[in-house]
Amino acid sequence: MTENLSLGVCYYPEHWPESMWADDAKRMADIGISRVRIGEFAWSRIEPSRDDFNWDWLDRAMDTLGQHDLEVILGTPTATPPKWLIDAHPDILAYDADGRPRQFGSRRHYCFSSLTYRREAARICTLMAERYASHSALFAWQTDNEYGCHDTTRSWSPEAARAFRLWLQDKYQGDIRSLNTAWGTVFWSQEYTDFSQIDLPNLTVTEATPAHLLDFYRFSSDQVVTFNRMQCDILRAATPDQPIIHNFMGIYTGFDHFKVSEDLDIASWDSYPLGFLDVAPFPVEDKHTYMRQGHPDFTSFHHDLYRACSKDGRWWVMEQQPGPVNWAHHNPAPLPGMVRTWSWEAFAHGAETVSYFRWRQAPFAQEQFHAGLNLVNNEETSATREARQVATEISALANAPLTGKAEVALVFSYEAKWLFDIQPQGASWSYWQLILTWYGAARRLGLDVDIVSPDADLTAYKIVLVPSLPILPDGFVERLKKTKAHIILGPRTGSKTKDVQVPNNLAPGALQDILPLRIRHSESLREDTSIDGQLESSKVSASRWLDHVETDLKPVAAMTDGTGLLFAHNKLSFFTTVPDGPFIGIVIGQICAKQDIQTTALPEHMRMRRRGDVVFAFNYGADRATIPENIRSADGALVFGSWELPAAGTACWRST
Ligand code: GAL
Repeated sequence: MTENLSLGVCYYPEHWPESMWADDAKRMADIGISRVRIGEFAWSRIEPSRDDFNWDWLDRAMDTLGQHDLEVILGTPTATPPKWLIDAHPDILAYDADGRPRQFGSRRHYCFSSLTYRREAARICTLMAERYASHSALFAWQTDNEYGCHDTTRSWSPEAARAFRLWLQDKYQGDIRSLNTAWGTVFWSQEYTDFSQIDLPNLTVTEATPAHLLDFYRFSSDQVVTFNRMQCDILRAATPDQPIIHNFMGIYTGFDHFKVSEDLDIASWDSYPLGFLDVAPFPVEDKHTYMRQGHPDFTSFHHDLYRACSKDGRWWVMEQQPGPVNWAHHNPAPLPGMVRTWSWEAFAHGAETVSYFRWRQAPFAQEQFHAGLNLVNNEETSATREARQVATEISALANAPLTGKAEVALVFSYEAKWLFDIQPQGASWSYWQLILTWYGAARRLGLDVDIVSPDADLTAYKIVLVPSLPILPDGFVERLKKTKAHIILGPRTGSKTKDVQVPNNLAPGALQDILPLRIRHSESLREDTSIDGQLESSKVSASRWLDHVETDLKPVAAMTDGTGLLFAHNKLSFFTTVPDGPFIGIVIGQICAKQDIQTTALPEHMRMRRRGDVVFAFNYGADRATIPENIRSADGALVFGSWELPAAGTACWRST
């Protein structure tokens, strides 16, 4: 197997009789799996009651896996504080926005701000790190499990209120007047005279002050950062050479993943394409079309996002869906071949390891309906056959090159999502819809895309997409001035200050330095109200939002009454509305032509991705599709797959 591509699996030895472990390990290795994640929910088995430790079973599980040359990713068990700990310290519990404690009985019931829990989490991490630091099977650590899962980043507990007040005191340098000014508390007589008076922004009669909410969201995100950092510091001190990983989620924005990742060595995420299709804001037709494949742009968006979070390009899929899941509104089975295709899509985007969740379906508790590589009775599922095929194909792709930088960047901002949640100003406004539409339009042109944080260096790109960035970070306009890229800005960009106020010079605020227009007023519209216009000879459509601008620029696209939908100035394009997929696709296509970027007319359900000189094509359609001639290898050779791609098929070839 090539060193830089590998398969893994998530395994729960504590769920199975020890007599099965050796056979499990042997069969994992036979399939071609080389990495196994264990331990992340095992606290009650490690420490059944305070200071009564039972490490032996975990020692033996690690030994057994090691004996089959499997590399272990050991999870710190902090996502599941055990019953005895909660009973002794109820201040560990998180509170929901209705002010009720979130009780023991599932998982993730802790508050990130609980000082008791920080102490307890540090204690168990230290003990675990000391015990396994020199175990030969230990390959890496996973901190906790899916921070924020089940909506747990924000806690409305007394502990959170205490920590929030300290955070505010620090942010406003102890000056309550500057907080009052920033939040605009003179409005509705909300002024404070002391930090101790400030509560969490829940249970208010009507909407809370937007800046109060945004500061609470920022604070809650920072609490995840420091909780994770505390674990990383302990693990790194004990095992400086073992990478530290966390498994992030899909379509989750509760905390700033770019910031949490700064303390990690490897970013990873848990990819459940069918579950996510069901819960993500896609049109219902897409939910039908891709019911058994997942949306072609959703999974790859997250691959690109977490590659952006990675250090030195190291990122994984820690949990890969192997069959139906248990947690979406509906849980269909993937098309035959899809588990293989999902695995390759991840590798094509630069993943180092794809790890299936889980080894064997659980016969008990919450996830009984969740598929694994094996049934409860240990018979293999079709996912195992597909994993085996992937392992064979990995061997055919000797030394897969690393992913290069893409020519197109898309700026993604957690803070933008928080701000829009707080002030949507229209029920149809959706940051995710905007992001996925712009990203999908680029992918449909065959472009590779780097997702970047709002603080990223933009100089190396030829096109930068900014679907919306209401609060411009420090230096953003300077960075736009410096890059040679063409920048496409979406609606509401530059429309707010850091304190959620309207800029003095009106929207788009500081952007007016490089874009001579300003917005007099904005409308939000129903999503089924079409905003129709013309861009050169093409009819174009938009919806949801319309800015009315004052400018001497002539619009590039406009409605029949002359209302501008798209303006351009030097290397900037600026939308005053939410373009649909074809509209943004035309604009990106035109700019690619100007910037000398090659685009490809792909069949509707096909996507492609380059990893160095290795090219991949994926068929997300339910029918056969043909890979366009102009992107095939010169000699017609393939590493694997075929030029006629079956439904759910993948092909791979070298471009040189
Ligand atoms: C993930 C989680 C796993 C398991 C899985 C089921 O969110 O990390 O523990 O619950 O979902 O799909």
